[in-house]
Amino acid sequence: MKAVNKIDVPSEHWDKLFAPSACLVMITTVDEAGRVNAASFGTCVRVCHDPVYISFTVGAPKDTAHNVLATSEFVVNVPPFEREILEKVRVVGLDFPPRVNELEKAGLTAIPAKSVQPPRIVECRSHFECKVEWTRQWLHRLMVVGKVVAASVDEDCLEPSGKIVWDKLKPAHYCGNAYKNGFVAAYQPMWVDMIYNEPIPPRPTDGK
Ligand SMILES: Cc1cc2nc3c(=O)[nH]c(=O)nc-3n(C[C@H](O)[C@H](O)[C@H](O)COP(=O)(O)O)c2cc1C
Repeated sequence: MKAVNKIDVPSEHWDKLFAPSACLVMITTVDEAGRVNAASFGTCVRVCHDPVYISFTVGAPKDTAHNVLATSEFVVNVPPFEREILEKVRVVGLDFPPRVNELEKAGLTAIPAKSVQPPRIVECRSHFECKVEWTRQWLHRLMVVGKVVAASVDEDCLEPSGKIVWDKLKPAHYCGNAYKNGFVAAYQPMWVDMIYNEPIPPRPTDGK
């Protein structure tokens, strides 16, 4: 693997860095004893711009849910749309029992995070270190919302303006459980004009 230089990203660029606003990720956590766990998520969403908050849901009996509730920390790692790592994303998503380190099973590399205990995954291109803001269990699911407390990215994936270099970061989407092994590239942006040029009426102030 080529040497990768991860650079810290200042907070004013975190919103631009989590792009598109939902993407395929691997989330790392640790348990009470500091043992590392990783799991794959196709449904991870940036739910607040400023400050930046990230949300996901997970099965309540899963190790990620247990660890998030036990330690209140997680790291969101964004893999590129490249076959070699997407194959590993599938391994990380297998249902290994507690205390198994999925990063080792998949042949991925942990490096320490800057502000939380769970590690970053070096083969991923951007990383969001989160402290849990709130969780809510419903049905058999746990909803997790985390506040980003640090972010970092591979040096060549960020413009000086803080915007991502789309075809270097190469974010991906997951086709979903019904497709099992399908992923979609999410890095071909199209910049479109605003075609509505009429004045917009003011919003009512009485809340209606
Ligand atoms: C590509 C991929 C995407 C996934 N997306 C989700 C998801 O969005 N939500 C979810 O609950 N599980 C998702 N999974 C399944 C979890 O990764 C899986 O349940 C895993 O076993 C959880 O691990 P844990 O017990 O270590 O937390 C996905 C799996 C793969 C391979």
